Amino acid sequence: MEKIRVNYEKMYYGFPVILISYYDENGNANVTTLSSSYTLKDMVALGFSSKGYAIKQIKEVSDFVINIPDQTLLNEIEFCGKNTGETCKKFEHLNLTTVASEVVNAPIIKECPVSLECTLTDVLESKNYTGITNILAVIKGRLIANEYLNEEGRLKISAFDSLLYFNDGVSRDFRYLNK
Ligand SMILES: Cc1cc2nc3c(=O)[nH]c(=O)nc-3n(C[C@H](O)[C@H](O)[C@H](O)COP(=O)(O)O)c2cc1C
Repeated sequence: MEKIRVNYEKMYYGFPVILISYYDENGNANVTTLSSSYTLKDMVALGFSSKGYAIKQIKEVSDFVINIPDQTLLNEIEFCGKNTGETCKKFEHLNLTTVASEVVNAPIIKECPVSLECTLTDVLESKNYTGITNILAVIKGRLIANEYLNEEGRLKISAFDSLLYFNDGVSRDFRYLNK
């Protein structure tokens, strides 16, 4: 394929959208939208802008939940990605239900079909990438909606309705697995 060299400020080539829920240091539930993540075995890596409220709080409280939304939650995804927990208790503005996790001190979002209960293990802040905080966390529990499980209790991959986020610094949009 012939290629054109481009000079984009970033290139997000389709990452699953996730909602990170946590109790802040005052015990208030809050939530932020993320797309920078990957997981290997019981480890998950997340990338945050260092100035966000969620990362500042997770560095203090350690526990959080990764919730995987489906297409029906697009408005919630955008709301949580536009507002900061610094000034907004986001759950008070959304039709989302929080349920306390049994294994970490963090709220699960009931409306999301998949939730991973996590505890922070490592914070990576490098002078090579100022303004970015990467974290590693251990996954202590996994919760999956019945609709996403087959008869053997394994993932029914065809049920997934995740959103993939693309952004080149100017153009941004979602694509859907089932479209
Ligand atoms: C689809 C989407 C994906 C996003 N991905 C990230 C991300 O990977 N890392 C990040 O720091 N911010 C990301 N953001 C931006 C944050 O959600 C946004 O800055 C938010 O207001 C931060 O909230 P907080 O201050 O409560 O943490 C994303 C936003 C959207 C809408």
